[in-house]
Amino acid sequence: MDVLKAVIPAAGLGMRLLPVSKAVPKELLPLVDKPMLHYVVEEALDAGITQIVIVTSHGKDALADYFDPAPHLEKILEERGEASAAAAMRRMRTEAEFIFVRQHEQLGLGHAVYTTRHAVGDEPFAVMLPDDIIDAPTPVLGQLLATAQQYNGSVVAVEEVPPERISGYGVIDPEDISDGVYKVLDMVEKPSQQDAPSNLGIVGRYILTPEVFEALSRVKPGAKGELQLTDGIALLMEIQTVYARRFEGVRHDAGNPLGLIKASVSLALKRPELGPALKEWLRSKMEE
Ligand code: G1P
Repeated sequence: MDVLKAVIPAAGLGMRLLPVSKAVPKELLPLVDKPMLHYVVEEALDAGITQIVIVTSHGKDALADYFDPAPHLEKILEERGEASAAAAMRRMRTEAEFIFVRQHEQLGLGHAVYTTRHAVGDEPFAVMLPDDIIDAPTPVLGQLLATAQQYNGSVVAVEEVPPERISGYGVIDPEDISDGVYKVLDMVEKPSQQDAPSNLGIVGRYILTPEVFEALSRVKPGAKGELQLTDGIALLMEIQTVYARRFEGVRHDAGNPLGLIKASVSLALKRPELGPALKEWLRSKMEE
């Protein structure tokens, strides 16, 4: 199964990050010195996926501006000795190809993905939710691709979620088929704690077959009154087997203030030029 395109839904209102998201798309909020969206595109490139389809909406033109090529800025950074910042910008310009699709009404994640049907066409594709930032030894998308290829079907990423938080997720009913891989028997968006079919919550990385678009065209408003991607995948399961994979890595929900800070601190601690000083400062803060 060849996957060439990654869809990144970025048209949402960013309600959990108001007031800043009123004027700055949440996907452009920084984790250290790059927007969270930049890390997600890097993850796609690391997994060998170079065609990036970003769903935007009114008021979010800055997302497209961010990826405009700027070789003159790369040159300035290089002259200043900031080679890694220059390389990060150059990689977006030379390795990724961007397509922007507008979602005119915020009807839900399923609808956002459905708006990309013409851009994606009749081929399997990835979906990456940009506020799920995952620090992993192998990019999570790469882990999912391996499973999608092995089983020749759609795959969603899942992780174990504590019971008190499960109702914030899409949750699968799993049948164990091998270490960390499940056949999905059912999936439910945002079930109550009592109704959750397991403790395995869907995290924002998917590999989907193109038949999901037909399924999405039939989805009715579900949790929160929205057209949910989970409900579209549940309909896809009527005609195809869908798999889930427990991924290796640590996921941060950067779509809320605490998660944004945690993601930023974790990424900064790994940077040789920032990590040691930040660690020392964090230690001294803990002792206050
Ligand atoms: C979305 C999906 C949900 C998934 C979650 C992971 O929900 O609808 O199935 O578990 O992302 O981050 P949201 O967080 O947009 O409400």
